Amino acid sequence: MTVPCVTVSRERGEAVRQSLIEADALTEDYEIEVMEGRIYIPVDPAAVPDGLRDALTERELSHRDRQLTPADLLEFEPSIERLGDIVILDEDDRRRAQEIAEAVMESGLPCETVLNRASPIEGELRVREWDILAGNSTETVHREYGYEYLLNVAKVYFSPRLATERRLVTEQTKPSEHVFDMFAGVGPFAIPAADRDADVIACDLNEHAIAYLEENARRNGVAEQITTVQGDVSTVADEWTGWADRIIMNLPHSADEFLETAVRLAGDCCMIHYYDIADAEAPFASGETAITEAATDYTVSVINQRVVRSYAPGQLNIRVDAELSAHNR
Ligand SMILES: C[S@@+](CC[C@H](N)C(=O)[O-])C[C@H]1O[C@@H](n2cnc3c(N)ncnc32)[C@H](O)[C@@H]1O
Repeated sequence: MTVPCVTVSRERGEAVRQSLIEADALTEDYEIEVMEGRIYIPVDPAAVPDGLRDALTERELSHRDRQLTPADLLEFEPSIERLGDIVILDEDDRRRAQEIAEAVMESGLPCETVLNRASPIEGELRVREWDILAGNSTETVHREYGYEYLLNVAKVYFSPRLATERRLVTEQTKPSEHVFDMFAGVGPFAIPAADRDADVIACDLNEHAIAYLEENARRNGVAEQITTVQGDVSTVADEWTGWADRIIMNLPHSADEFLETAVRLAGDCCMIHYYDIADAEAPFASGETAITEAATDYTVSVINQRVVRSYAPGQLNIRVDAELSAHNR
């Protein structure tokens, strides 16, 4: 019997698999197959994102030995997110959360810990509190596009939902480029950029994030190309004035407050990847104005605008890619 699948060239396989996971379109009942340079990924066709609809086909794929899922044990499909061997819930009802946690642990999912969100992401360090429902470790190793990230969700920021977004930015990096990641976290932009032979400065205020970033740089074989800096980027980055060819500003709620620093870091020609949480009616305008007003000695060209995800009703998480060219060039 044939099953619906998405087919792309083998080289695009991992990127497409990640986007299908993010769209919740991957079906785990069948094996992925590679044949004559093409990969065939089994999917739920209704959930396949628009950009991959042309790649839909049918193919005979081998059945996987079916493991018990949490939904098999509950009478509903729970909403869960996976980060390494941690399963994350977002349940207000504590009894329902506990019931899901027990089903997750009994199921065939590779899971050591189940956590429930206990606060919003808060404060300068963008960390949240958790209720531990099963297991006891908040540290895990998460894999994304072939890279490994060791991290502790109780001590650092990390969102697996931004995998494609990070990929879209880091695949723009060129060998020998000077990349300044102003809000680097545990390194999910800095490490792939360094792996593309860029020279990377990665800064974060959170000492735990920097410690994980250094460990992750070693794990992924790019420690030589990354210099880490712990502290408030607006006060610790003077050494790199005029240095950067590319700047990543992944602090969406307050990146505008750091534009002056970004402009100081920028070389004569520099791409800024600027993140914002903005009104859905005109999501790019305020960021573009803020960049233009900060970069008075540059011509600012907006190269790309992207909606990363919906953030809250009427609000979007967006990215603006703006190229700065110095007037005196
Ligand atoms: C939204 S997180 C992004 C982390 C990382 N880029 C990622 O994608 O996982 C923002 C990061 O900025 C750091 N941060 C906040 N204020 C900062 C500042 N003034 N200077 C440097 N880092 C800061 C936080 O500690 C946090 O790790």
